[in-house]
Amino acid sequence: MVMNPLLIPTDLVTRLRTARRVAVLTGAGISAESGVPTFREAQTGLWARYNPEELATPEAFRRNPRLVWEWYAWRQERVRQAEPNAGHYALVEMERRIAEVALITQNVDGLHRRAGSQQVVELHGNLFRVKCFAEDRPVENWPESANIPPRCPHCGSLLRPDVVWFGESLAASALRVAEQAAVTAEIFFSIGTSALVYPAANLPFTALAAGATVVEINPQPTPLSPQVTFSLNGPAGVILPRLVEQVWGDAVGISECRL
Ligand code: OAD
Repeated sequence: MVMNPLLIPTDLVTRLRTARRVAVLTGAGISAESGVPTFREAQTGLWARYNPEELATPEAFRRNPRLVWEWYAWRQERVRQAEPNAGHYALVEMERRIAEVALITQNVDGLHRRAGSQQVVELHGNLFRVKCFAEDRPVENWPESANIPPRCPHCGSLLRPDVVWFGESLAASALRVAEQAAVTAEIFFSIGTSALVYPAANLPFTALAAGATVVEINPQPTPLSPQVTFSLNGPAGVILPRLVEQVWGDAVGISECRL
């Protein structure tokens, strides 16, 4: 069912008001209004001639580790300058009001935690964490040096960002938690994701098969759109605050300025 995004269906408001278990899958679209470019958007400036899908692979790192490290340093800088937006904050409010909310994100920008969400599963890792390329071991500190990338203080091999690259597997524990949340959710939200990259793209289908109400929030249709219970076509930063306001707007403590 395609909806006018300004009108949140009453049926959805009612279901959300009584829901006890909700799962939310987010993708790059939720950070778009924070100024973080989505994955498939053209890159700008220095990086315009690179395709992210050619930089975010183990092969690219082996070929040119310095280039890949510097690309991530640039992305880190863009995210440091960004702030969570009204969509991120609305999900924090949702977590406060529903018994169990699992927030599963494909984003590596850490903006959900910066907004204040507590139960976040980062399926594709985090831009601000580093691990050893040879041994996969998380590394927090390394000796100052001119090397780019720096080297692992334990084994001397190169350090890399702790994100999932194309061709790599997701952390089994994170995927298990996400799948469990999809199976048990009464309501499952798919927000700002093109629903193209597996296994994350499977999660809404798992929820549908388990009988959940599935809601998509995205200005563009995706392969998931024909299957969902409610499709809200618009920006997450507009729709989510509106949804939260309609469901809990009369509750004390919703901060108008953040929404
Ligand atoms: P994409 O860049 O593929 O898709 C972003 C989606 O957000 C698109 O469907 C847009 O229509 C939608 N969108 C844009 N602005 C929006 C807004 N304001 N509100 C809501 N939606 C909006 O990003 P992902 O689906 O996150 O994987 O990509 C999934 C994964 O593919 C990424 O995590 C990354 C990438 O390859 C890895 O790095 C492993």
